[in-house]
Amino acid sequence: MCGIFGCTSLREGVSRIIYDSLKKLEYRGYDSVGLATTYGGHIFVKKDQGRIEEVEGKLEISKLPGRCGIGHTRWATHGAPSKENAHPLTDCEGRIAVVHNGIIENYLELREKLASAGHKLRSRTDSEVIAHLAEEFLSRGLTIEEAVRHAALSLRGSYAFALISALHDDAIVCVRMESPLVIGISRDFVCCSSDVPALPPDVESVVIMNDGELAILTPQAVTIRDLGSGQQLPLKLLNKESIGGLVDKGGFAHYMIKEIREQPQVALNVISAPRAFILRLANELVKSDRVYLVGCGTSYHACIFGSYLLRLMADIDAHPVVASEFHDSCTRITPSTAVLAISQSGETADVLQVLRALQDKDVKLLALTNVMGSSITRLASLYVGLYAGPEMGVAATKTFIAQLLMLTRISIEAARIEGVNHDLTSSAERFLKSSAPLIEKAILVNELQTKDVAIDLASKTNAFFLARGINIVTALEGALKLKEISYIHAEGYPAGESKHGPIALVEEGYPCVFVCPRDETYNKIIGNIMEMKARGAFVVSCVEEGDKDVKEISDRTFVLPEIEPKQLTPVLHVIPLQLLAYYAALARGCDPDRPRNLAKSVTVT
Ligand code: M6R
Repeated sequence: MCGIFGCTSLREGVSRIIYDSLKKLEYRGYDSVGLATTYGGHIFVKKDQGRIEEVEGKLEISKLPGRCGIGHTRWATHGAPSKENAHPLTDCEGRIAVVHNGIIENYLELREKLASAGHKLRSRTDSEVIAHLAEEFLSRGLTIEEAVRHAALSLRGSYAFALISALHDDAIVCVRMESPLVIGISRDFVCCSSDVPALPPDVESVVIMNDGELAILTPQAVTIRDLGSGQQLPLKLLNKESIGGLVDKGGFAHYMIKEIREQPQVALNVISAPRAFILRLANELVKSDRVYLVGCGTSYHACIFGSYLLRLMADIDAHPVVASEFHDSCTRITPSTAVLAISQSGETADVLQVLRALQDKDVKLLALTNVMGSSITRLASLYVGLYAGPEMGVAATKTFIAQLLMLTRISIEAARIEGVNHDLTSSAERFLKSSAPLIEKAILVNELQTKDVAIDLASKTNAFFLARGINIVTALEGALKLKEISYIHAEGYPAGESKHGPIALVEEGYPCVFVCPRDETYNKIIGNIMEMKARGAFVVSCVEEGDKDVKEISDRTFVLPEIEPKQLTPVLHVIPLQLLAYYAALARGCDPDRPRNLAKSVTVT
């Protein structure tokens, strides 16, 4: 995880540009922050533990002198969150500074070698070795560019880093290997960044670096080289607008609530997304004997939903698999297998690891992602975008809705190709067409009610989210949202299974959130509610308009528009649960956009 940013400019004031972009990268980690610039043949570094605004308040990192610098916002992996482990990290003499995102797997071995060659390593990070390796190669007479290239060739693992040296007042050398890095070019400056939304507004063109490339940036030029051979590569410039715009909170208190409110627009985007690629992807699925849907966290929940729909609507043998558990022992890969990787960021290391392991095998690699140009789009032979726009809140909300709706579109196309389940596909299509106003209504009608229930929930330490059938996805997602941003321990569980153990936890006032559309599971779930109520549970239920029975036995209800087909009810029923998590986080004084220990893109396995 971690966010890195570097900028070399014709004008003074580069640290302000870096600071502003680091604020946009803070979603990638916020354990510590730091900035380094070159000025008058020296390197200036300021860094500390804490969030960017706190550190700015203490150290004024945005006021470092110079026209060239690098910055970092950290999600700690190797070494505790501390000033000493904060980036930029420097070599022995403080003449090289580096910022790094990713993991150097052989850092222990490298640290030992460097220490025995006399280098003084001051942090506990894996990243510091990069600065010392570059120092070592420089001392052997290599140019900075060659020293960095040789340093990078000594590393094993996944990394993107940017490095400055006191020897060069205006040059940044950066390398990408399995961690994202893009270059932005404007009239006055050139910069490198972990992602596109963090690029400053005046950037006009973008270069998306590939794995195994090294770039030398000066305010006037960008040179890309192959890491292995050192040979210069052609520059592929893209227009920034074509790969995603800039994002702010648009007057909302947090990105998360802004993104929840954007969901009706996201639905419109998904239903009007071009059909050609969706059709091609559906074709690939239909031709396959078996399909594995692979993802993590919220995207894994989308995998469960997608597998269910593909089986039900298109008779496809589809199975969800948590990416980090994708092993030969639980999957059967043949030439007619397809793997559909689902990832909002397209950079989740567990997902990329699955694709990389299968790259040379005879298997179709497909993807669904929100980030064009992300690593997943290069590994898959065919991918479909989510059209949700940049998502900045660490908790996935609008991209989950986009995933559910896009998977519905894919399943409809697949069913049509197979010529099966006409009634169900027509009904699903009708729902898609009206999904935007229905989502809008689900948000508006439940805003106050969720705020209210969140206040009750805020004093609790545990909660169950229970459902049956397809809405187990909703229960899992509701629980994940609540636990990740409010730190209330929450479990999503099949309601019928809850009497086989979890019910032992239920006592007076224990929150149980049930998802209860009027589908074939309705009567059974009433039984499950009664079991929990009999033990004193505080029952909150998601019900459809016109519901009487569940309402009567629940302490509180969230009311959702009634829809057909019932298999698509997760699209609406998850909305009050997103709002509930958001307001519970606020009621507990937690920052919903920046939950502790988390980051938006999880780029470590
Ligand atoms: O970018 P991805 O969709 O691959 O990310 C997967 C998970 O890390 C992500 O969904 C995570 O669980 C979110 N914080 C959930 O809100």
